[in-house]
Amino acid sequence: MPPQEDRSIDIHGRIERVLIPAEAIAARIDALAEEIAGAVGDEPLTIAAVMTGSLIFVADLIRRLPLMMKIHMVSLSSYPGTSTTSQGVRVRLPLPEDLSGQTVLIVDDIYDSGRTLTAAVAQARAAGARRVLSCVLLRKPDAVRAESVARPEFVGFDIENTFVVGYGLDYNDYYRNLPYIAAVRELSDTR
Ligand code: IMP
Ligand code: MG
Repeated sequence: MPPQEDRSIDIHGRIERVLIPAEAIAARIDALAEEIAGAVGDEPLTIAAVMTGSLIFVADLIRRLPLMMKIHMVSLSSYPGTSTTSQGVRVRLPLPEDLSGQTVLIVDDIYDSGRTLTAAVAQARAAGARRVLSCVLLRKPDAVRAESVARPEFVGFDIENTFVVGYGLDYNDYYRNLPYIAAVRELSDTR
């Protein structure tokens, strides 16, 4: 019999270390929004929010962007279940087929191998986007620098090479609701 999940536990008690507090995230998003608004200018904007990880980030970011925009959710998964290493990109919910004339801003939670972003950028281009920009809240140091890998124009924070959760990022779909970015201990109890 698999062990029963403990649903009563307070998630804050499982945190090993807070890497980025909520206030620091908010301050950085203020600055990112200004950068993005400056780069986009008056162009018609479509946001492609990579679910589920960018859920909280995109909600905070778009409310600081005083631009006319459409918002689409896309779902690309590279870390199924309890794995903490990338397993390749699976498309569950694609971008719209026709993005001609649009400036597309892809928003994701974290840039690690770059595969997720590369797949999203390729889809936006295939849909005829006029310009494709991308923004991630976090970037890990192992990010691949190969020519074939898309790089984000806007990055919130560079972080160390640890598996992090919170502010939308999950481990096995848990911890997304933490208001800060943190490392958790005993990942194996969350299965
Ligand atoms: P990439 O395709 O390797 O760049 O990985 C990006 C995706 O992997 C993100 O959209 C996240 O969902 C997931 N990911 C990468 N690192 C972490 C992490 O430390 N915590 C939680 N999810 C992560
Ligand atoms: Mg994700």
